[in-house]
Amino acid sequence: NSIRVFAPATVANVACGFDIFGFAVDSPGDEIVLRKRDKPGVEIIDIIGDEGRLPREAMRNTAGIAIQTFLQHIGSEQGIEVTLHKQMPLGSGLGSSAASAVAGVFAINELMGRPLKTMDLLPFAMEGERLACGSAHADNVAPSLLGGFVVIRSYNPLDVIRVNTPDGMHCTIVHPDIEVNTKDARFILKNEVSMKNTITQMGNVAGMIAGLMKPDYDLISRSMVDVIIEPVRSILIPEFNEVKQAALDSGALGCSISGSGPSMFALSRDAETAQRVGLAMQAGFLAVGITSELYVSEI
Ligand code: HSE
Repeated sequence: NSIRVFAPATVANVACGFDIFGFAVDSPGDEIVLRKRDKPGVEIIDIIGDEGRLPREAMRNTAGIAIQTFLQHIGSEQGIEVTLHKQMPLGSGLGSSAASAVAGVFAINELMGRPLKTMDLLPFAMEGERLACGSAHADNVAPSLLGGFVVIRSYNPLDVIRVNTPDGMHCTIVHPDIEVNTKDARFILKNEVSMKNTITQMGNVAGMIAGLMKPDYDLISRSMVDVIIEPVRSILIPEFNEVKQAALDSGALGCSISGSGPSMFALSRDAETAQRVGLAMQAGFLAVGITSELYVSEI
């Protein structure tokens, strides 16, 4: 009658793949507990770890809305009590809203006897994203739900592909102690992209996938370049260029903004490099008095 589910944080965009690339990490992540009850309706009983900042009303909460739309879809009036354990920072660029929505919809599907396949849960988790930041992008929810590195080839119809990554490849995430709202970070983007930048970006997207699949580390490294989004958004992150350079100087294959920021991520061939890269990135932020959290994870 009850279930506990963990859903991981994710790095969206992965430099060149705005709204189409994302991968999951081992930690951090969110945990949700759902309990069946007799009274119909979805009720959020408690949220732990958000310092009271997230909406408690189910239809205004990313997990709540994902659960509610799922129940409507399967035609169930089952009453549900929700307890959410936020175990990652809000507004961090680590897919916090996505992890809650994914945990919620995965949990309710299990609790109801698994009426839908995992892949078919995506649209419900995307509703959570629409609520949280005004756009139903899938590059956080898809990797959080499916694990690994994911490509959103198409949104309409939804076409999601899992891509293998080289053995031992590690991700470094550094979350500086500042907040960037995804809605704002999307608002500042230009609506038009030049032909020249489109061609460069398409080359990098193709190169990235080929690099991961071959695998070819130099190709991955050359492809981790974003000429469209990063130049605009990096102004929201103090010391962005210095921190990125510190990562590259320490042996990272590439470094960019995680999702809409302010977290920055880097990819490395192995765990030791990823750890060294993380310390160098943290030192870059600390040089201007910004403290940060470091997460290193195999991808
Ligand atoms: N692709 C989205 C963006 C991810 O960059 O706005 C947000 O986490």
